[in-house]
Amino acid sequence: MIDCVYRRGLNAGAGLFFAVTGCLGAATLWAEESEPKPPFDLADPAIVDEGRVQFAQTCVYCHGNAGSGGKAGPIAGRTDLTEDYLFTTISNGKRAGSLVMPTWKDSLDEPTIWKLVAYVVSLQAKPEAAAK
Ligand code: HEC
Repeated sequence: MIDCVYRRGLNAGAGLFFAVTGCLGAATLWAEESEPKPPFDLADPAIVDEGRVQFAQTCVYCHGNAGSGGKAGPIAGRTDLTEDYLFTTISNGKRAGSLVMPTWKDSLDEPTIWKLVAYVVSLQAKPEAAAK
């Protein structure tokens, strides 16, 4: 935003219109990128538990019991996975060499994916439990 004000100052006069629309465009883009947001509290134990059940049905095959690792690397005990990253990655899938995680957004609805995010986040918080 400081940059926008600065540019507006520089472009005062003929360039003002373009400078302002440029800033608005950047602001809109930022808003879109920060979507979507979880529809419920991801720390809610009931939500985490629903995620656990879904994970056991859909994800354990590759990620191991409680995300301990299997065909794909472990996702338990990790501290580098943010909520947004998890949502995007689970939605769109991921490829690592010849290993492929399918896209889930076609088969799971958004609230279900958020429940999986809640569960994976809970695994990060309790690495010792996930190691079992
Ligand atoms: C067919 C096997 C397979 C299934 C089923 C699967 N995954 Fe994956 N997943 C992978 C592979 C392969 C990767 C990429 C491995 C890597 O990043 O090292 C991956 C990556 C991930 C990552 C990102 C890890 C990272 O470091 O970036 C997350 C999070 C994840 N999976 C969650 C899930 C969830 C939740 C489910 C259940 C809905 C699921 N996966 C089901 C194979 C699978």
